[in-house]
Amino acid sequence: MTKAPLTLYLAAPRGFCAGVDRAIKIVEMAIEKWGAPVYVRHEIVHNKFVVDTLREQGAVFVEELDECPDDRPVIFSAHGVPKSVPAAAAAREMVYVDATCPLVSKVHIEAQRHADNGLQMVMIGHAGHPETVGTMGQLPDGEVILVETVDDVARIDVRDPDQLAFVTQTTLSVDDTKDIVKALNTRFPNIVGPHKEDICYATTNRQEAVKAMAPKCDAMLVVGAPNSSNSQRLVEVGRKAGCTYSQLVMRAENIDWRALEGIKSIGITAGASAPEVLINEVIDAFKSRFDVTVEQVVTAEENVEFKVPRVLREPA
Ligand code: F3S
Repeated sequence: MTKAPLTLYLAAPRGFCAGVDRAIKIVEMAIEKWGAPVYVRHEIVHNKFVVDTLREQGAVFVEELDECPDDRPVIFSAHGVPKSVPAAAAAREMVYVDATCPLVSKVHIEAQRHADNGLQMVMIGHAGHPETVGTMGQLPDGEVILVETVDDVARIDVRDPDQLAFVTQTTLSVDDTKDIVKALNTRFPNIVGPHKEDICYATTNRQEAVKAMAPKCDAMLVVGAPNSSNSQRLVEVGRKAGCTYSQLVMRAENIDWRALEGIKSIGITAGASAPEVLINEVIDAFKSRFDVTVEQVVTAEENVEFKVPRVLREPA
């Protein structure tokens, strides 16, 4: 049977960012240095395939520090942790390595600096996401006001409208966040914020590539996990940019082939925690069913790299 022709647009950049790459390396190097088991508090990055692979190498994933023994090393995930977590590990004299992405740590420092200057903090983020929990947890409970939508801005109660600053989660929708920042600036003209937002280069670049790709595609798939914030945002950005069938798939087996019947073009991208091996698996699944022509949609080049913490670079 002859296969139907299909143009497969491949977004670039897509997939792993420097923070995810570093976090995975940290777990691998920790296992190499200290042997298994090495405990990891929370999924090191939000991807089941990555977590399962590291588990096979000797990582043990837990949700809370209480679940770790005192005498094994523990790693904190790329999303960041409240200050209470390293403090508790230090109090138990545990060996711990912080795999918080340096771009998230930068936001933590910003929040602390504003609070030290007497400003009340507002955080734009998603309630319950570990990064939001970690950033809000840089300051005492109740000190940071969470804002998730433009409507929230009208509802919040602040101590002094002239003594405010804001930070953001790094993986938000660039466009939605602009609207929230605008609402904050309108209601609180003296609010202090970052020069742009705190949305990281990887989130911004992946969303830009989707915006360029989506209008050409009959359908778009984002390789990523349901709990990955930046992957979910890529699905939404795809829809807003004109590709109504924009879906998240964890891997090839999740593709709904019925929904894709008759398409002439497909766009593929991946969230920052999705490994290239899963992207290739999805591409191969299309190649087995269609006569595929691959076209890259390149909107940026990335060459960001973060060093692993010194403790892992030193000999055991
Ligand atoms: Fe860091 Fe952005 Fe990746 S904050 S972990 S570089 S998505």
